[in-house]
Amino acid sequence: MKPVKVGLLGLGTVGTGVVRIVEGHQEDLQGQVGSPIVIEKVLVHNKNKARSISIDSSKLTEDPWEIIHHPDIDVIVEVMGGIAHTKEYIMEALASGKHVVTANKDLMALHGKEILAKAHEHNCDVFYEASVAGGIPIIRTLIDGFSSDRITKIMGIVNGTTNYILTKMSQEGASYDDVLKEAQELGYAEADPTSDVEGLDAARKMTILSTLGFRANVDLNDVSVQGMSKVSKDDILYAKRLGYEVKLLGIAERQDDEFSISVQPTMVKKSHPIASVNGVYNAVYVYGEAVGETMFYGPGAGELPTATSIVADLVAVVKNLKLGVNGKQGVVAFKEKKLKSDEQ
Ligand code: NAP
Ligand code: HSE
Repeated sequence: MKPVKVGLLGLGTVGTGVVRIVEGHQEDLQGQVGSPIVIEKVLVHNKNKARSISIDSSKLTEDPWEIIHHPDIDVIVEVMGGIAHTKEYIMEALASGKHVVTANKDLMALHGKEILAKAHEHNCDVFYEASVAGGIPIIRTLIDGFSSDRITKIMGIVNGTTNYILTKMSQEGASYDDVLKEAQELGYAEADPTSDVEGLDAARKMTILSTLGFRANVDLNDVSVQGMSKVSKDDILYAKRLGYEVKLLGIAERQDDEFSISVQPTMVKKSHPIASVNGVYNAVYVYGEAVGETMFYGPGAGELPTATSIVADLVAVVKNLKLGVNGKQGVVAFKEKKLKSDEQ
């Protein structure tokens, strides 16, 4: 019953949720994995900042290497965001034999392949369920649930902030600036909300989903992106009069071995279920040749929904530790993709 020790990088919206769930559900988690899960150290920018949870101050550090090189820490949970430094910390953690759970879609969309290769080399797990669609277990579903099928299309709302803004503009006539501010206060938006409203966050998520769904080497540059910052209240009003809602949709399609992937504001007929996906909720449709149409729905951002995915990944790492089978994911041979635009 040796405790499994976790180093948490970040104690913002998601990190706080992780602490709450690990502490609040400890008995149940321990029942599943047979060991206590202990948050040993927590990296923050500023140790003296006021926090919404009480945490033993001796656990806080501003030095990432104190966690990455900590001899007793088994798993790193990265919920600080950013790309360059997080990549450095994660690569070093993997080289030291530590398993990694991350919510970082920016990092996984850009450097996922390299990170998974490093993990494989060191027999370590890297899980990133929280990086797409917050509380919806869509990554595990694509990898395991659809392993028997050939996915032809993935479509959906994968950014909570913009769906929250579009919903409030449509239902309450609220102003774009006011609702964006609200989404930031609720902890839904990225540190730089430009990536939400200009569609980059959704594009990164579609890169991850299409890589896994199509089992192909998809690049962020393969996604054509248009954000929603130029959608006005009038656009939404006119669309409504015509029987449509405006949604920021990610659409990835495969025809034979050709792919096309885009993110753009789209008029969706009110009768389509996706038009009723409101607020911070996300929905992902997956179409398989054998299964037909499936839909996955749930909160796409926010403290506790996102943390449920992180802690589920943590449980998966600990179960693998018990079985001695860490580092066996990421060995799927991804095919080189052919984009429709390549032919023009
Ligand atoms: P956040 O609220 O801004 O929290 C970031 C945390 O990381 C803070 O505790 C901050 O320390 C710490 N931090 C940031 N840079 C640091 C550095 N260089 N050195 C030390 N500590 C640093 O962010 P968040 O919303 O929790 O998001 C974290 C990650 O999860 C991002 O990758 C994001 O894309 C992803 N994500 C977020 C959501 C969501 O709903 N928010 C959902 C899915 C995925 P201080 O507290 O001292 O400032
Ligand atoms: N900013 C992101 C969103 C967080 O609003 O969807 C969840 O990935």
